[in-house]
Amino acid sequence: IKSIGVLTSGGDAPGMNAAIRAVVRTGIYHGLKMFGIRKGYNGLINGDISELTARSVSDIIHRGGTILQTARCKEFTTEEGMQKAMSLSRAFGIDALVVIGGDGSYRGARDFSKFGIKVMGLPGTIDNDIACSEYTIGYDTAMNTVQDALDKIRDTAYSHERCSVLEVMGRRAGHIALNIGIAGGAEVILLPEKEFDFDKDIIRKIVQGRNNGKKNYIIILAEGVAEKIGGALELAKKVEDLTGIETRGTVLGYIQRGGSPTVRDRVVASAMGVKAVELLKDGVYNRIIAVNESKIVDLDIDEALSMTKDIDHELLRLSEILSI
Ligand code: F6P
Repeated sequence: IKSIGVLTSGGDAPGMNAAIRAVVRTGIYHGLKMFGIRKGYNGLINGDISELTARSVSDIIHRGGTILQTARCKEFTTEEGMQKAMSLSRAFGIDALVVIGGDGSYRGARDFSKFGIKVMGLPGTIDNDIACSEYTIGYDTAMNTVQDALDKIRDTAYSHERCSVLEVMGRRAGHIALNIGIAGGAEVILLPEKEFDFDKDIIRKIVQGRNNGKKNYIIILAEGVAEKIGGALELAKKVEDLTGIETRGTVLGYIQRGGSPTVRDRVVASAMGVKAVELLKDGVYNRIIAVNESKIVDLDIDEALSMTKDIDHELLRLSEILSI
């Protein structure tokens, strides 16, 4: 190959810029021509594409979001959209594509590869919900952001002897909620992957805590559960009505998606970016870069998309023991 395009797709995540930087610089280091494609697959359809130099990616490693911007692109799911994207790729001389995003972005990449382009996927999402990888770019930063917020909420919950409900992101996955629940010492952790009984697992747990001498309480509510039972404010009201304990709700929202990436996210993103481009250079393609047993590996894109991922049940067990 002679030239690679890079794009970010789906929800943004801190560390995506570090990945873009690594992809671009590795390509240039190995003598390839590098292109940035803006706003996800939209840029490929609209020709929102420009050549990047090593300097185009200076001063971005510490920045959250993505300098290439991102989007979800409906048109790219159609044959017509892909044809357009393919003819533009040919016009720019792009023969391989590095896609930084989640499962939906990989499906787009896999379907697009049938048109003859070589693809490589990098896992980028704060949710850590990409089945083939133990770790996704942005997850550590998001968890640290949530942790910082929860510590602040705990200060005020302590001062007022209140219960606090904190709603965190994770529409389909409870990885953030579970880890934050443990790191922040929550009494109750509600995850989309786990059934629960409202009375037994929430109300009685809080009352039991009070009977054991607790004076403040934390409930972590994953977004995926909030969509079913109501958000943090609604749950706070129910808990207060049923326990008599003053309860407040906080929805953290998009604050979790931004901010300067942690060391871990910058290093993982950098290593993944280098690996993606070096594989392409060596003639390996249609792969997803992943973390497996703490090592950076690559998997076939179809295999990666057929995998499933569960929450860590041992962590769940720990949370039961530690929340008495
Ligand atoms: O980035 C992942 C995520 O935060 C999910 O937890 C959430 O469901 C989704 O993004 C919402 O993002 P958007 O509003 O951009 O579609």
